[in-house]
Amino acid sequence: MLTEQEAADTIILALDCTRQRALEITKELEGRLAWAKVGMTLYYQEGPSVVTALKELGLKVFLDLKLFDIPFQVEGAARAAAQSGADLVSLHGLGGAEMISAAARGVASLEAPDPTKLIAITVLTSMNRQTLASIGVEGEVAAEVERLATLALENGANGLVCSPEEVARLRGMLGPEALLICPGVRPAGAKKGDQKRTATPAEALARGASKLVIGRPIMAADDPRGAFDAIVEEICEGA
Ligand code: C5P
Repeated sequence: MLTEQEAADTIILALDCTRQRALEITKELEGRLAWAKVGMTLYYQEGPSVVTALKELGLKVFLDLKLFDIPFQVEGAARAAAQSGADLVSLHGLGGAEMISAAARGVASLEAPDPTKLIAITVLTSMNRQTLASIGVEGEVAAEVERLATLALENGANGLVCSPEEVARLRGMLGPEALLICPGVRPAGAKKGDQKRTATPAEALARGASKLVIGRPIMAADDPRGAFDAIVEEICEGA
């Protein structure tokens, strides 16, 4: 059974919006929200200053840039992302061993006391078996997720992003300490949007997620604070 604070700490709010909206909503959730996610929508508008602004509000920041390029470029990008003060930064496991270890070198080169953690995306939660087949990856999504998870962790990633559908298998495979982050989380009755492999917050945690990424169910709600509190309550009752 989680306390309200512990439940709130599992939520990483995806700020896929403007800087003004991001600051408004973090203000509205002050004292409740512990983690914010800056993705491409916000970062490409504002750059590292938005990470600094959120850190100054006392939030932990997941910089979800999903790096995927040649190793040299990713090493530089990971270093720059770490320099912004982000607690977590993401990259695609699909980039391969050399790219992932280059990112790890980039972060390590800063020699920070509390280094930014590298989080590898396995298979996007908006993709399913058909989407994978359409880009030439045949077979079960879960098998691809496991393969990419192993590759990423062996090459310096500190955690993984996976869908709630695969998290139980990864938790079983990797043990209690693994940092497993699940997007594709939808409270009971919420719209799925473009997400395909989804579960409720309580289900995702019960299956082994360490943290949940939640965006539109809170960001697009008429009453975001009410939506946040309802998710916390749902987690406390269900987990
Ligand atoms: O609005 P919603 O709750 O669907 O937001 C999910 C967030 O998680 C988005 O910011 C998206 O970029 C991110 N994400 C994802 N699937 C992944 C990794 C990250 O949906 N595999």
